Amino acid sequence: MRIDIVTVIPELLQNFTTESIVGRGQKKGLVEIHVHNLRDYTTNKWRRVDDYPFGGFAGMVMQCEPIDRCISQLMSERHYDEVIFTTPDGERFDQPMANELSLKENIIILCGHYKGIDYRVREQLVTKEVSIGDFVLTGGELAAAVMTDAIVRIIPGVIGDEQSALSDSFQDNLLAAPVYTRPKEYIDVRGRSWGEVPEILLSGHDAKIREWELEQSLARTKRLRPDLL
Ligand code: ADE
Repeated sequence: MRIDIVTVIPELLQNFTTESIVGRGQKKGLVEIHVHNLRDYTTNKWRRVDDYPFGGFAGMVMQCEPIDRCISQLMSERHYDEVIFTTPDGERFDQPMANELSLKENIIILCGHYKGIDYRVREQLVTKEVSIGDFVLTGGELAAAVMTDAIVRIIPGVIGDEQSALSDSFQDNLLAAPVYTRPKEYIDVRGRSWGEVPEILLSGHDAKIREWELEQSLARTKRLRPDLL
């Protein structure tokens, strides 16, 4: 899979694409992430990519031309399944959308900025508008990073233990069960016990453990996210 991210702040995404799970996916050759600086595509001699909005509204608006030049260049090189625009008024990003996007061959993520982009870009080039939640970020870069992380980590082979991506919260519309590691009983810095690991997890009885896991998932979902049930 290949993800091309178009942004006015490529620096924000540089470490993200080479480190962590996304970096690992790239090193394994399972995904390619390319970050493009929109300013490299403007013909403006001051490398400006925005201008004042018609109608006297406040804020600046990203112009059509640099976006057209960048995305047209990419599209002349390969076919893209989606051109995604990150915007708070887009369709809500969730696990099913991440699953669906992880099956695509090539996608472009265009990061929004300033007051927005010239609406004609959305009409002419964008195939999907996506929001990561009901709040407004300064720019779409963090949204692009969130989406890329969620998409890449479920590509088979990116996470060593594939099972661990499948048992994530939300993969079956349930929150994940609690997990524990050593020691069996933890005594904190003030000498108080934080309790013991549930006995069932030490029993070695796989079927019973799976049953417990499902019960816990259901109970946590009911308590914390009843809307998912
Ligand atoms: N850009 C600004 N806010 C955003 C959000 N919530 N989701 C996606 N892109 C955004």
